[in-house]
Amino acid sequence: MHSIAEDLNQRLATTVVGRTLSRFGQRIYFPKGIVAQSNEAKKSATTFNATVGIALADGEPMILPTIQDNLPRLSPSESIDYAPPGGDNRLRVLWKEEMLRKNPSIQGEKISLPAVVPGITSGISMIADLFVNEGDGVVFTDLCWDNYPLIFETRAEATCVTFAPFTPRGEFNVPGMVTALKSAARQGKVVLVLNFPHNPTGYTPTLRDAQALAAELVALAASGLQVVVLCDDAYFGLFYEEDVYRESLFSLLYDAHENLLAVKIDGATKEDYVWGFRVGFLTFGAKGLTADHFEAINQKVLGTIRTTISSSSRVGQTLLYRELSSLVYHGIKVKYAKVLEERFKTVKAILANRATGKRLHPLPFNSGYFMTLELDGGSTEDLRKYLLKTEGIGTIAFQDKYLRIAYSSVDNRDLRALFETIFQAADHLFGA
Ligand SMILES: Cc1ncc(COP(=O)(O)O)c(C=O)c1O
Repeated sequence: MHSIAEDLNQRLATTVVGRTLSRFGQRIYFPKGIVAQSNEAKKSATTFNATVGIALADGEPMILPTIQDNLPRLSPSESIDYAPPGGDNRLRVLWKEEMLRKNPSIQGEKISLPAVVPGITSGISMIADLFVNEGDGVVFTDLCWDNYPLIFETRAEATCVTFAPFTPRGEFNVPGMVTALKSAARQGKVVLVLNFPHNPTGYTPTLRDAQALAAELVALAASGLQVVVLCDDAYFGLFYEEDVYRESLFSLLYDAHENLLAVKIDGATKEDYVWGFRVGFLTFGAKGLTADHFEAINQKVLGTIRTTISSSSRVGQTLLYRELSSLVYHGIKVKYAKVLEERFKTVKAILANRATGKRLHPLPFNSGYFMTLELDGGSTEDLRKYLLKTEGIGTIAFQDKYLRIAYSSVDNRDLRALFETIFQAADHLFGA
């Protein structure tokens, strides 16, 4: 059990709460990870707050104008009526159409109709409910969104095995992934979580790496292993370099082998700049699945939704439907993505020309909201605290070795000052 959970249990031990908690209730805790560090920064990051995984411009969330315009104009049935458990059917159909447009190599009849869930987090948790038993092997990168260990290890009681995301040459670590999958396999089954653009590094594989990765998964499936691959596509579409594979990994996996189930977990959260809407989608594909199989899977998902959240919020679904069907949608989205791409280019230029902070090495990044610096000799938790207390700058420390910078939430004009202060702080604390 995690020491934070133990501490909470001890504090509650003499109360009726402590005496009645379930085994899950005893195991669960709120980690001192991204959200806790972000909350700390909200109070003290008076200069720049580069902790949050949202896109800000001039300190305000970057709202798409169609969403803003439609907000006050919704009828009661569009805003407060119950939505069906699997989501508004018009939205499910439209999201699928958009998915096929964004991922041209997917054949629509070979995947399920996306089901609406209240955000990507709940979608991942529902997949854990559906496919992960206590003790099952689940694999993800060791640098990862900190909710994966909480969902799979603490909540679902899986055996989690991690691997380093990059080879020494800076390519996606396909050999490490295969070793982890082999060691995690239990009773002929294994679950893999992939997330591109990756949080916290901001990396997406090249086409070559993506194909090599898919080929290895197919080889494992062909050897008789049942492989479930979750593609967490939270930051999909924000690709800034030419050689990046611009479709979801799901495209290479949904029709690859009868023993390989691909689950796409995506949503409007980051893709459509509506973080608080809580609209995500679950889509399934595996070679040989038929329309009847997809309907049976849909019923399983509906049962999972019914027993947890019953149905997702109506208002977010209506606004998203209007947004996706608006004539200006694609144009504005391209414009917003350009704002983030400009920041990405600025960060690359700053790193290429710096004279200070040479102990901080950027991990490969080419997409998404973030980039991560690896510190050579020193503690990034010390660096984070120093930046927050002395400079009013919020960042996220991982494993006391990495520092995540969310350039999505800092204006382009401020990036140079942000990075120079981080570099100088590292030199001051740990030597140049
Ligand atoms: C990799 C990854 N997946 C999922 C999420 C959460 O998505 P949602 O807000 O839709 O639950 C995040 C958000 O921080 C994330 O970084």
